[in-house]
Amino acid sequence: MTAHPKKDPVTGVLFAFRYSMLQPLITYFWFDAAGNKSPEVPIFSLKQPSVMHGFAITELYALFPETQLVMKPMDMVVHGGSFIGLDQAKVPWIGVLPRYAKDESEIRWFEVPRFNLMHTTNARDEADGEEIVLVAPNNLSIYHMLGNMELLHARVDMVRINLSTGVVSCTALSSKSLEFGMVHQGYVGRHNRHGYFGVSGPMPKLSGITKLDFHRVGTGDCTVAHRDFGPRCFAGEPFFVHDNINGDGNEDSGYIVCYMHEEATAKSRFVMMDARSPELDIVAEVQLPSRVPYGFHGLFDTQTELLAVLQ
Ligand SMILES: [Fe+2]
Repeated sequence: MTAHPKKDPVTGVLFAFRYSMLQPLITYFWFDAAGNKSPEVPIFSLKQPSVMHGFAITELYALFPETQLVMKPMDMVVHGGSFIGLDQAKVPWIGVLPRYAKDESEIRWFEVPRFNLMHTTNARDEADGEEIVLVAPNNLSIYHMLGNMELLHARVDMVRINLSTGVVSCTALSSKSLEFGMVHQGYVGRHNRHGYFGVSGPMPKLSGITKLDFHRVGTGDCTVAHRDFGPRCFAGEPFFVHDNINGDGNEDSGYIVCYMHEEATAKSRFVMMDARSPELDIVAEVQLPSRVPYGFHGLFDTQTELLAVLQ
């Protein structure tokens, strides 16, 4: 199962998929708020086994981005090479499926040249459902994924798909190498303005956090806030924790949190940054008795939800 399921903030439905080396190469499914799994939706459209790591939802659709990263099991068997390979002849495309589809009959694929993403940041419907907007870090040199991760450059792009005309456009939101984009989880699949990204230090280390304002698309770099952690100080995947203490509905009212490690002193901290301040001020930090390794695919959850799971 994907490490990046998407939870609808209104219904609590959790959408997910898995990929396989054998047909169906993708299987889509979801869980209702009580945890009941839907019937599976097998998707046979892909021509070869692909590494489809992340996906996205809007209020109307589920989006399946296929990149040039593919599985090549025979290469490993015959040549002793890597299980994962690159198909540079392939044009990346995004499958758009109604999110409560019973089968794949209504899926439509839209080519997005050179759009090789691992993670999506958020997606939404626009123009009364006629358009889809997807924000995601785009690996400009996907071939580095195969052995030189430190050279990866992930540029945050906004892709716009017109479902009526089939026209696809792609606009860069920043020239920096950014990954692990987070948004206020109350806006998953909906129009949101702010995203918080780890700055490649290089990957998988993060040397800072950058906040982008998606409304500034087309005006150059969309950076509105930034924090650099300083020399030899790195973090793992950041999270955005919204602040509803005062019932404040403002999207960027909250904190960015992460584990930080200072390599010169071997000290580790849990750090909270004010998401609204221009320099993402550190407002609280906790010294940790031992180090938490750089990593990702974690989750911060509310006490209420954790207790519900434990009951
Ligand atoms: Fe991931």
